[in-house]
Amino acid sequence: MEIKSIILAAGKGTRMKSETPKVLHEIYGKPLLGYVLDNVKNITSENFVIVGHHAQEVETYVEKNYSDAKTILQSPQLGTGHAVSMACPYLKDYTGLVLILCGDTPLITEETLSKFVDFHKNSNSDLTVMSTIFDNPTNYGRIIRDADNTLKCIVEEKDATPEQKKVKEVNAGIYCLDWGKIKNAFSELKSNNAQGEYYLTDIIEWGKKHSLNVNAFILENNEEIYGINSRINLAEATKILTKRVLNNLMLNGVTIVDPDSTWISADTEIGQDTIIYPSTYIEGKNKIGKNCKIGPCAHLRGGVEIQDNIKIGNFVEVKKSVIKSNTNVGHLSYIGDSELGSHVNIGAGTITANYNPLNKVKSKTILEDGVKIGSNTVLVAPVKVEEGANIGAGTVVTKNVPSWALGITRSPLKIFENWVKDKLKQL
Ligand code: UD1
Ligand code: CA
Repeated sequence: MEIKSIILAAGKGTRMKSETPKVLHEIYGKPLLGYVLDNVKNITSENFVIVGHHAQEVETYVEKNYSDAKTILQSPQLGTGHAVSMACPYLKDYTGLVLILCGDTPLITEETLSKFVDFHKNSNSDLTVMSTIFDNPTNYGRIIRDADNTLKCIVEEKDATPEQKKVKEVNAGIYCLDWGKIKNAFSELKSNNAQGEYYLTDIIEWGKKHSLNVNAFILENNEEIYGINSRINLAEATKILTKRVLNNLMLNGVTIVDPDSTWISADTEIGQDTIIYPSTYIEGKNKIGKNCKIGPCAHLRGGVEIQDNIKIGNFVEVKKSVIKSNTNVGHLSYIGDSELGSHVNIGAGTITANYNPLNKVKSKTILEDGVKIGSNTVLVAPVKVEEGANIGAGTVVTKNVPSWALGITRSPLKIFENWVKDKLKQL
């Protein structure tokens, strides 16, 4: 059965105290909304993102990065139920499943969403809501059940009685619905509640009233539905995600010397027997091969593709570069927009000058197989050093260097014999 998603991302995110819309705040260089869209992409055929607050910025991000997603404007923002109703005109004749998610819940996994959809199908459910148990359920909508334990309704914190507030089962804000059966609910929602909003959660009662099969899927790992409302939540979510990523890497044969000081994005692949030393920060999308040594204190900024047996040493920054096997970038270097061959050695303090701030153009540095770069070299891009060539320490490379040549820019060293002694005598 076809599945489409509606992702709610129109809210203001007041508690972020930011000019940036909440869903564009980033974890490892990827906006929160990106996490949600990535998690649905293998499950759904089409995704609708409801935008409102700072709509233009969110639209631009979606258009640029997700061709399978359409943005729909919600203005003004009258609540989560109202937000979903914005998608109704686009789904008039659609009869498949709709998965509803929030753009500020980046930790949900594709695996959980698949299980959730399977649960919906296997239980012949018409409407399934995801729930979880929190010791401290404050701020979440509470799942209210009948005496026989069947789902009755969801009550928001602000509308809950003291008794209802004690309930620890909460609404995760993720729903799966048979669109054809539920779509009429959205024109019938009322806003007679504490917040004067059209609540999406009211579709539960609507479903019950229309004799539909309404169920809750209880998610065991409540970390996955952790929502971002403040910068404190953002930092906490980064921690949760990092722990998940590092554990997964370690289980797959990567040594992480100190997980407490290591930061690796979920979009980084790392091969077996690679060792990541402390205080290393790896963001964006990267691919690292086997038997590499990364760090301590290395920074990979995304778009980095490293083959096997490579050393990226301390205080080395790498961005958008391909590095072939058996190459060393040992110390204090910047490698950006570059292609490094195999068996290349980069001396300490080498910089690829890839950016011209006057015309804002970034250019490429190409170092072919076996090239040796002396310490403190500046490679002014665009530039190419061909196979086997050497560059002397302290050189500024401003033109291409042919194979097996030596390139060097250095004024000769002058020696003044006994200069220090003479100076001291004069004192
Ligand atoms: C909502 C649920 C609550 C649940 C919680 C889970 C309702 C009424 N409440 O509460 O039961 O426990 O999520 O995190 O649904 N949004 C829009 N347009 C709007 C309003 C909101 O797109 O008009 C978006 C927001 O950007 C956000 C999401 O919907 O991504 C949730 O809205 P929010 O106001 O954060 O709802 P909660 O109060 O957290
Ligand atoms: Ca919220």
